[in-house]
Amino acid sequence: MRSLIDICDLSKEEINEMIAVATDIIARPDAYSEKCKGKKIATLFFEPSTRTRLSFEAAMYELGGNVLPVPGEALSSAAKGESVADTVRVISSYADIIAMRSPKEGAAFVAAESANVPIINAGDGGHCHPTQTLADLFTIYREKGTFDNLTVGFCGDLKYGRTVHSLITALSRYQNVKIVLISPEELKLPNYVKLGVIEKTGMAYEETTDLEKAIPDLDILYMTRIQQERFDDRAEYERLKDAYVLTAEKMQAAKKDACVMHPLPRVNEISVKVDADPRACYFKQVENGKYIRMALILKLLEEAKNPARENLLAGTDVFESEEGCENPRCISRTEQELPRLFKVVDKSAGVFRCVYCEKRKRF
Ligand code: NCD
Repeated sequence: MRSLIDICDLSKEEINEMIAVATDIIARPDAYSEKCKGKKIATLFFEPSTRTRLSFEAAMYELGGNVLPVPGEALSSAAKGESVADTVRVISSYADIIAMRSPKEGAAFVAAESANVPIINAGDGGHCHPTQTLADLFTIYREKGTFDNLTVGFCGDLKYGRTVHSLITALSRYQNVKIVLISPEELKLPNYVKLGVIEKTGMAYEETTDLEKAIPDLDILYMTRIQQERFDDRAEYERLKDAYVLTAEKMQAAKKDACVMHPLPRVNEISVKVDADPRACYFKQVENGKYIRMALILKLLEEAKNPARENLLAGTDVFESEEGCENPRCISRTEQELPRLFKVVDKSAGVFRCVYCEKRKRF
């Protein structure tokens, strides 16, 4: 049995296989309409969601299965103080697979360690969002036919935008991909992605605050919303919220075959006038997301025929500390009795990374 916590839990080959299945589902939906008969997915969302939740639910219905929607945090036992570990252990008795979203970074990891069914991370705080990345990759594949030799611009809130973190991680595994990071100084990419992914893999990158200057070189422009809910300082959000707006005028400088993506919801970072541009792909991403999630559900349920839970830390050099993680959003700060575990990054330099949220720590 396997869960999906981080996009790298899937190999490139597995992603290709899932893309092939999703493509086949689009061509022959009837062949899949009973594949999950008798199976149930629980959707446990402790943060707002429209697309991600509904796409999992629609995916399961289209596979002939059923859905157990768990009410939001305020209405479920989490409001009484139940831990994530206990909540998913209980839901495992009712459902065959769980898609979950939590504001706590590392929540899906903790869930996967205690659930008896596969966990799908549908977003854990500002950390990662691997199924949006599957939707993004499927879209890139359908639009460009490859993941290699692309120049991809990420624009907006690169600090808190979890979809950006997961997509950069995924793209770092392909050949000759260059990324352009376009953000205000305050919203630059966190170190766990910059050092832990980009510099570690040697991926080519550039940082700028200037969207207009970056546009002409891009094959893909991935716009993001400024993540209001993750700001501690409201005034800072107000100052940064309109940092970038992609307009039809700015699109005139883009390549003829460029592709504009956005995980949605959009606030005002893409003018609605851009929607009519054939290069706007963000509504296609939504539809692709349902098909690739169907492929993911099929894959994880197939693997769950072997009930032994995969060891998420197999082969990882881990160190248990007395001191905890410094990230206030890390699940280890709130979940009862979680061991304070750190992955070794560079032992001689004293650099470690929290197992749950990946924040770096020095000892
Ligand atoms: C994204 C998310 O939740 O991180 N939305 C989504 O899942 N499609 C992006 C966002 O909220 O800005």
